[in-house]
Amino acid sequence: WPFHAPYISAINRLKKERGAVILAHNYQTPEIFHGVADFKGDSLQLAIEAAQSESNLIIQCGVHFMAETSKILCPEKTVLIPDSTAGCSLASSITAADVRALREKNPGVPIITYVNTSADVKAECDICCTSSNAVQVVESMGTDRVFLIPDQYLAKNVNRQTDVEVLTYAGACEVHERFTAEELRGYRRSMPDVQIIAHPECPPEVVDEADFSGSTKGMIDWVKTNRPEKVMMITECSMADNVASETPDVSFVRPCNLCPHMKKITLPKILDSLLYMQEEVTVDPMVADKARQAVERMINLKS
Ligand code: 13P
Ligand code: SF4
Repeated sequence: WPFHAPYISAINRLKKERGAVILAHNYQTPEIFHGVADFKGDSLQLAIEAAQSESNLIIQCGVHFMAETSKILCPEKTVLIPDSTAGCSLASSITAADVRALREKNPGVPIITYVNTSADVKAECDICCTSSNAVQVVESMGTDRVFLIPDQYLAKNVNRQTDVEVLTYAGACEVHERFTAEELRGYRRSMPDVQIIAHPECPPEVVDEADFSGSTKGMIDWVKTNRPEKVMMITECSMADNVASETPDVSFVRPCNLCPHMKKITLPKILDSLLYMQEEVTVDPMVADKARQAVERMINLKS
C-alpha cells in the first residue's frame, strides 16, 4: 500500500474537513474498502446507510445506480460519485418505457425492480429488492405471479425458492453471466476440497454447482462463519481480496471476473471528488418521489 498511502491520508483528512461520509460497495478495491470507506456493504446495506447517515455529503464508491439510490433516499443531501460513467449492464438493460409496456401487457401483476436499475425505472415499479431480500419481497406481494426485473438469472434463482411464479426480463450482469457450470465442475475435479460460493446473479446451473449462494454480504458472512480451508467466490474479484485480509486462516482460490464499472472508482478520483465536489448526482424530484416509494417500501419490509 505505500503507493496508496498519500491518497488515503489526504482523502481521510479532507473527508473530515468536509464532514463527508464515504459509502463503498463490497466490490470496491481493498485500498478503498479498507483505507477510506466509513461504511461498506451490499446493495441493501448501502441503501439503508444512505437513508440513516447524518452527514450532508455522501461520496458513493460504487456504480451510478447506487449513487442515484442514495440521492433518491436523501434528496436534501449532496451525493457525489467519483466517476459518473460507472454504469452497470443490468441498469442499462431496461428503460422506464420498457416497464410501462410490461405493465400494459400484464395488468395486475406487481413489478419488482432489482436495485440495479435507474431512478426512472424504479419510479415505474411497485417495490425494489436486492439479492439479499428478493424472496422476502416476492412473497410480500401477496399474488401468485410477480415480475422481478431486469435480471433473468436472479429471477430464475428466486423462482426456485418460492411458490410464487416469478416472471422476468432479459437483463444479465456481465460479470456473473460469464461463469459456467462446466467451469465449476472442472474446479471441483482439480480441487475436491474447495468450497464454492456463488452470487445469485449467476445462471441457475452455476448456482446448482455451488455449496452456497447469497448476496455479497451473505457470501462474506458465510466465509467468516464457516472458515473453510479453501474457498472460491464466484463473483467479482475484489470480494476475495477484501475478505482475505480479515480471514488469514482461509485460502482463496481466485477464478473471478472483474466488473469494469466498479473499477472506474479509484483513490485519485475519490480525492478529486472531495477536492472539487464532483460529480454531483441529481435525480428529477418527481421521478425521485416515485422511486423513493419503491425503495422505502423495500426498506420498511425489513423491520
Ligand atoms: P449485492 O452486493 O447486493 O449482492 O449486489 C451485487 C452487485 O452486483 C452489485 O452491483
Ligand atoms: Fe452491474 Fe454486475 Fe458490475 Fe454489479 S457486478 S455493477 S451487477 S455489471
